[in-house]
Amino acid sequence: MKHIKLKINTKTQKYSIVIGSNLMFNISKIIKDNSINFKKCLVIIDKNISKKTISQIKKSLNRKKIYIHFFKASEINKNINNVNKILDILLNKNFSREDCLISVGGGITGDISGFAASLFKRGLKFINVPTTLLSQVDSSIGGKTGVNTKYGKNLIGSFYQPNLVISDIQFLKTLPNREVICGYGEILKHSLIANKKFFNFLNRNYKKIIYLKSPFIEKAIFESCKIKKNIVEKDEKEKNLRKILNFGHTFAHAYESFFGLYKKTQPW
Ligand SMILES: NC(=O)c1ccc[n+]([C@@H]2O[C@H](COP(=O)([O-])OP(=O)(O)OC[C@H]3O[C@@H](n4cnc5c(N)ncnc54)[C@H](O)[C@@H]3O)[C@@H](O)[C@H]2O)c1
Repeated sequence: MKHIKLKINTKTQKYSIVIGSNLMFNISKIIKDNSINFKKCLVIIDKNISKKTISQIKKSLNRKKIYIHFFKASEINKNINNVNKILDILLNKNFSREDCLISVGGGITGDISGFAASLFKRGLKFINVPTTLLSQVDSSIGGKTGVNTKYGKNLIGSFYQPNLVISDIQFLKTLPNREVICGYGEILKHSLIANKKFFNFLNRNYKKIIYLKSPFIEKAIFESCKIKKNIVEKDEKEKNLRKILNFGHTFAHAYESFFGLYKKTQPW
């Protein structure tokens, strides 16, 4: 089980991002190696994750008491009612702060699970297993969690850092092409913000990255995470520097509004 590790050190939490391939066979060992202990966990799983992977996760966690909740990831489902459903399971199964919530999914699943984790008894252990390229290079790092409302996207939320992030490249193999390209967009954004050398690497190797070729995809994920790490460590709560990560979004929102695309893409 080869993997690389990146340590994040914010004011509220120190945690690792573990990046590698075929990590789900060993999820239990990775959790233990990172000193995260619990007896009981609730795993929130995106409905598009393969049955094979789910059984690997279950098998590896077989010494824990494990509950599973499937979630259909969409912007319309990224709402407070679905957070309530998660909280209801945690309360009903008598979870405590010493237990753990594990998210296995893309940015939507991670944002909603992280938000529920931050609310439950003011915070229980939270492990994020991002399964899209976008979530591996961006949304799983830095502790922004939240939901959409009829007033707009991500308007209700919290800053809540995970205890651990496990990025398994194997997940990307079932990801639709469009989703890989969305993730590549965030990698490119990070390079433009902070690292010309990395931008040149992407320029030379973008095809290999989009086709998930090793070791290019691993390097792209690692370098991208490093850029976000450096920014988040300096400005965890987006008071100042972290706003730089919105680079491109400002233009995109104006572009989408101008061409009437914004309303079409918003479900509320
Ligand atoms: N918290 C943050 O800092 C942050 C940063 C950027 C974006 N976001 C949020 O992230 C969300 C977008 O995340 P996303 O792009 O990961 O979208 P997503 O979670 O909706 O996933 C995209 C699609 O891929 C499917 N999917 C997920 N993993 C899969 C896999 N391994 N194989 C096949 N299909 C899979 C999902 O079911 C979904 O249909 C947005 O809601 C955005 O607001 C948050």
